[in-house]
Amino acid sequence: MIVVAGFIPAIDVFEEVAVVTKPRAACLIGWPAAHSRSPLIHRYWLRKLGIEGGYVIEAVPPDEFKDFLFRLSLRGFVGANVTIPHKERALALSKPDEQARVVGAANTLWYQDGELCSTNTDVEGFINNLDTCAPGWARCEDALVLGAGGASRAVVFGLLERGIRRVHVANRTIARAKALADQFGADVVPVAWDAISELLPRAALLVNTTSLGMHGQPPLELDVGRLPPHAVVADLVYVPLQTPLLEASRARGLKTADGLGMLLHQAVRGFELWFGQRPEVTAELRALVEADLANMAR
Ligand code: ATR
Repeated sequence: MIVVAGFIPAIDVFEEVAVVTKPRAACLIGWPAAHSRSPLIHRYWLRKLGIEGGYVIEAVPPDEFKDFLFRLSLRGFVGANVTIPHKERALALSKPDEQARVVGAANTLWYQDGELCSTNTDVEGFINNLDTCAPGWARCEDALVLGAGGASRAVVFGLLERGIRRVHVANRTIARAKALADQFGADVVPVAWDAISELLPRAALLVNTTSLGMHGQPPLELDVGRLPPHAVVADLVYVPLQTPLLEASRARGLKTADGLGMLLHQAVRGFELWFGQRPEVTAELRALVEADLANMAR
């Protein structure tokens, strides 16, 4: 765990009258520093809210990560997002909250009383996006989650926290689904990948956390016609934005929640922790990021 001796407060007070404010800055730490939408999102909010601050990408190789984190505040950062491949080490090198511990990875870091704290905002990103896209979704009793990786753990944690009675987790490698169910307890039921079809008629909420349907990956072969008529369908994939799963679900008149919505909602908490104001996920922001994704695809 890192306790920072040289933590730099945002406000320096000199004598009794002069107050000098340093612009706050946060960063995204990754390796390679892939093209990320985080700077676009956070800079939009900084502009919108009239906050003098910054958000930059820091490409940090694995063998330099610990040292980089140790000196995060000395480099002038009030916090950071962490992405591949550093999320597990970020957890180990900070003071994680329950979400980060359960998911087994941290994606957002900030200082509290000089101590580097961490959380995993995928949980609230997923839930808040569902609340926005399909109000009332939590009345469902049975959910079916496809996949059993880190993203699935965030989704399952959020569903149980919102009181969903039974969460089936289907995974190609059944051992991972079983391990996930062991972690969460009796409300989570591991199921084999080839049992998906028979579970669909009672799945009031279907969530894809696998990479199936992502650009360059095989499609997710699944008949949404077997879902109940009031089902809600969520896909964490956002490239392409309109996955075949979401397309078919919308064509059937089902409510859907897409991966871009989750991406935007998961960024809210970090911004609030670093810059002190809770930003909004607006249609304008969504359009901005959509345009960026479309540009990348060209
Ligand atoms: P993340 O942390 O984003 O969840 P992950 O841990 O690599 O990433 O998990 C990816 C998920 O997609 C896993 O559930 C994986 O299934 P396995 O555990 O069997 O690997 C699932 N997945 C990836 N490719 C798949 C495929 N072709 N068919 C079915 N599931 C697939």
